[in-house]
Amino acid sequence: MQSLPLQELKQVIKIEDSSLDSQYHVLDLTIRQNRHRQDALIEVLHKAQEQFGYLEKDVLTYIARELKLPLSRVYGVATFYHLFSVQPKCKHTCSICLGTACYTKGGKALLDILMKELKLEAGKRSPNGKVFLRVERCIGNCGVAPAAIYDGHVSRQQSPAQVLATVKGWMEEP
Ligand code: FES
Repeated sequence: MQSLPLQELKQVIKIEDSSLDSQYHVLDLTIRQNRHRQDALIEVLHKAQEQFGYLEKDVLTYIARELKLPLSRVYGVATFYHLFSVQPKCKHTCSICLGTACYTKGGKALLDILMKELKLEAGKRSPNGKVFLRVERCIGNCGVAPAAIYDGHVSRQQSPAQVLATVKGWMEEP
């Protein structure tokens, strides 16, 4: 199957920026190298994320079209795997563990204070785009419950005040 000529592609997804042109060229190359095979979806998503930084809807729509897959399927795969992001990456990520051990030792209070005081929502970026809040279901380190993970580093036995201070500090960074 032939891929869309770039001009048509631009009309479909309204690309105007020339840097986007080259990003789509690279993505297109990967799709062609994989002969538009549907089972190459993960590899194509990897390449798209590498090029664009995250998987925005236009990109997912383009991939779905090129691989002749339903957009819902492409979106489902992109949101299932943690290594893919459908939103622009944030500078910081705070993960709160709500597995059984962490939950019973106060993990929910860690989440609650971030939602209440900083208006963060689980699974979303902060309104200023600096922090992404994630909820985990046991990170396999129950001895340190309740645990929070700050930019990939596990912190043990966190209190709501500690979590709030850390994330608030991030939010107030210039
Ligand atoms: S429940 Fe939190 S680390 Fe296991």
